[in-house]
Amino acid sequence: MHQDSRRRGNGGEETNVDIPLLRLVNVSRTFPPSSVALRHASLDVHAGESVAVTGASGSGKSTLLAIIGLLDRPTDGMVLLDGMDAGHAPPRVRNRLRRQYVSFVFQAFHLIDHLTVEENVRYALAIKGIRGVQSRTLAQRALALVGLADKAGAWPADLSGGERQRVAIARAIASPPRLLLCDEPTGNLDSVNSRLVVDLLHRTTAGDTTLLVVTHDEDVARSCHRRLHVADGTVREGEG
Ligand SMILES: Nc1ncnc2c1ncn2[C@@H]1O[C@H](COP(=O)(O)OP(=O)(O)O)[C@@H](O)[C@H]1O
Ligand SMILES: [Mg+2]
Repeated sequence: MHQDSRRRGNGGEETNVDIPLLRLVNVSRTFPPSSVALRHASLDVHAGESVAVTGASGSGKSTLLAIIGLLDRPTDGMVLLDGMDAGHAPPRVRNRLRRQYVSFVFQAFHLIDHLTVEENVRYALAIKGIRGVQSRTLAQRALALVGLADKAGAWPADLSGGERQRVAIARAIASPPRLLLCDEPTGNLDSVNSRLVVDLLHRTTAGDTTLLVVTHDEDVARSCHRRLHVADGTVREGEG
C-alpha cells in the first residue's frame, strides 16, 4: 500500500514491476434500490497478462469491466491503475487515465456509421491526442494488422460482422493501450470469425498490453493465461 501511495500523482508513463498494472481492493457496486452487481471483488492483474472473465448472464461481468475501464465507479472499494487511485479520482483525472491506459472492444462493435473504416480508427486516435501524419500511419498499420488494409475507405455498413469487429480491434490497438478490455467480443460472430478475432486479440497484445476478455466462449477462455469466474457479483480465480 505504501508503494501504491508513492505512485499517486505520477504520470504513469513508467512501469514499476512491483506494482500490478491493475488492482481491485474490495470493490462493490450496487444499483439502488436493491441490485448488487459486484461484491467485495479483489484482484491483481500484471502487465502482459491475458485474463478471461466468465460467468452466467447477469453475474456482474460487464459491471466489473466498466469499473476497471473507468466507465463506472465502485460504490465501495479501490481501483488502482499502476498504483494510482483511479476509483476515487475526479472526473478530469479519470478521463485522462482512461485515455492513457484503456481501449475497449464490445460485442456490438460500436463503429461510427457515418465515418469510413479508416476515419473510425483515426477518430479514436484523435481522442488520444494523435492527429495528422502520425494518425494516418498508425491507422493504416493497424488496419493492415487486422487484414483490412483494402477496406480503409469502406463504410461500416458494407462490412460483415467479422470485418466490423476487426475494425473495432484496429481502432482499439492503433495506439497500443496498456489495458485492452473486451466485453463478449465474439458474441455476435460465427465460429470461424470468432477464432480470427481471438487470434487477433492475442497477436495485437503480444507486447506489454494486458488483455481482459469477458466471454461465454470456451475456446476464447482457454486461449488466455488466466481465468476469473464471476458468480452473483463475486469474483473468483479459476473456472468457477
Ligand atoms: N445500470 C444498471 N442499473 C441497475 N442494475 C444494473 C445496471 N447495470 C447492471 N445492473 C445489474 O447488475 C447485475 C450485473 O449486471 P452485468 O454486469 O451487466 O452482468 P453480466 O455482464 O455478467 O451479464 C445484474 O443483476 C444487472 O441487472
Ligand atoms: Mg454483460
